Amino acid sequence: MWWKQGVLYQIYPRSFQDSNGDGIGDLKGIIEKLDYLNDGTEKSLGIDGVWISPFFRSPMRDFGYDVSDYRDIDPSFGTMEDFKLLLAEAHARKIHVIIDLVLNHTSDEHPWFQESRRDKDNPKADWYIWHSGRKGKPPNNWFSQFELRNAWWYEPSRGEFYLGTFTRHQPEVNWRSPGLRKEMFDTVRFWLDMGVDGFRLDVVNWFIKDDQFRSNPLSLRSVDFHAHVYDRNRPETIDICRELRAITDSYGERMMVGEVYTDDPKIASSYYGNGDDALHLVFDFDFLFQPWNAAKISASLTDWYGRLPADAWPTFTLSNHDNLRHFFRYAKGPWTEARAKVAAALLITLRGTPFLYYGEEIGMGGGRLRRKDLVDPVSRKTWPFRKFRRDLARTPMQWSSAKNAGFSIGKPWLPVDQGFSSRNVETEEKRGDSLLSFYKRLIWLRKESAALQSGEIRFLSEYLPNALVYVRENGSEKVLVVLSFTHRPVTLTSSLLPGRMSVLLGTQRSPGASIDVHAGVPLGPYEVLIAGQGVAP
Ligand code: GLC
Repeated sequence: MWWKQGVLYQIYPRSFQDSNGDGIGDLKGIIEKLDYLNDGTEKSLGIDGVWISPFFRSPMRDFGYDVSDYRDIDPSFGTMEDFKLLLAEAHARKIHVIIDLVLNHTSDEHPWFQESRRDKDNPKADWYIWHSGRKGKPPNNWFSQFELRNAWWYEPSRGEFYLGTFTRHQPEVNWRSPGLRKEMFDTVRFWLDMGVDGFRLDVVNWFIKDDQFRSNPLSLRSVDFHAHVYDRNRPETIDICRELRAITDSYGERMMVGEVYTDDPKIASSYYGNGDDALHLVFDFDFLFQPWNAAKISASLTDWYGRLPADAWPTFTLSNHDNLRHFFRYAKGPWTEARAKVAAALLITLRGTPFLYYGEEIGMGGGRLRRKDLVDPVSRKTWPFRKFRRDLARTPMQWSSAKNAGFSIGKPWLPVDQGFSSRNVETEEKRGDSLLSFYKRLIWLRKESAALQSGEIRFLSEYLPNALVYVRENGSEKVLVVLSFTHRPVTLTSSLLPGRMSVLLGTQRSPGASIDVHAGVPLGPYEVLIAGQGVAP
């Protein structure tokens, strides 16, 4: 299945390519760049699918994650005709298209909310989460992530509070309302009928709230000091996922990947249901948040693999539009590029579907932006804490060393990262040893190897400190992956591995070279070594 074997790529459409010079990326811009993603040859990245962050009509308070019409395209991104063309052009290149559905909340400008907020008796009165409060105060302590205060907002025309745990402009819908539920399911069918290949489901674990509106216990372990027992992760949410799965699967090979936003792998993995009846894929945030430490990454992976039900298929990502890019998180002076190659090899050789985030393949880092350039509500609210500066992950794609990195002829909506004149697609395409060239080789190698696409994974890391060592295996094909996490030389020896293997891809050895694991393989600083038995180099 394409979503198990393929490599996926997240596009943040505002920042990918601007076709009309207004400084904002758009759908036509994405079409222009499809050949870069996959033109069927090894000159391109070889991507099998894209997840496009929201492009629906929106007042852009949260840059598209505040939708005011689920069935229309925001004019800043183009038109429905553009989207249909994008779908056709992507499909012509065997690139699947996943769209980002934000079904936990709408914009406060959505006509549903305009109607719902009017009074208590209108036909959509129960489409959002309303509460009369307690003695004039909000009903409980639920906390707004983005406004850093209580998440209930008073609405004078109803004399009630609505819930908005992101910004106040993102009222949360009531999934217990049959009318709302039907409309959401119809929206899902609308896009499936149009031919999209699936969905990324935004904050899917927040859909249902406690029916008794109980306050969350406080917790020192949580970044906002609340244990989200009652406003997220309610058991009823899985039932919605099951219904969504039934709809999606009735259209054939379509897929849903869930943003189950939690730091608890037990909760996240539960969204796979029995492995074949809830979400197809669930992002593993525990992996995304790992520090540069082979033992910790190995432990996190082993834990995650161990938790998944038998039929569940994993997925991994290291960067997205909400977090500092991993190139920056893992940076270490002169070793930064070498570490980025290790991270790339890890992502693309693990058992599970890799999701790349646009620009990671060229090493977009995004370390600096002036306060006055910040536009994201979270970045602005949490200044000066860099950890939450989402704008840094959203700067324009760096295509070339031309003005504005070739992203736009107009003034980009966010400044281009300073390093663009050397870090860009055009420059890196010319260099055989660039990060971009390495990503391409990794992805095309994966395409040729059944072991890398679908084989079992066996960790052997305990034989080598400061390294990840694993074998991917499918029938007679064995692929050994060795990733050194240190600049210090180390030597790999193991009697558990086949002795002689031949190098398939590496940062310090050429394809076809032979290694003998029984005799010992000395590894250079941050070396990536992928070797095979039973596969031609
Ligand atoms: C998700 C999105 C994030 C957005 C939030 C509210 O976490 O990834 O970008 O701001 O939901 O929709």
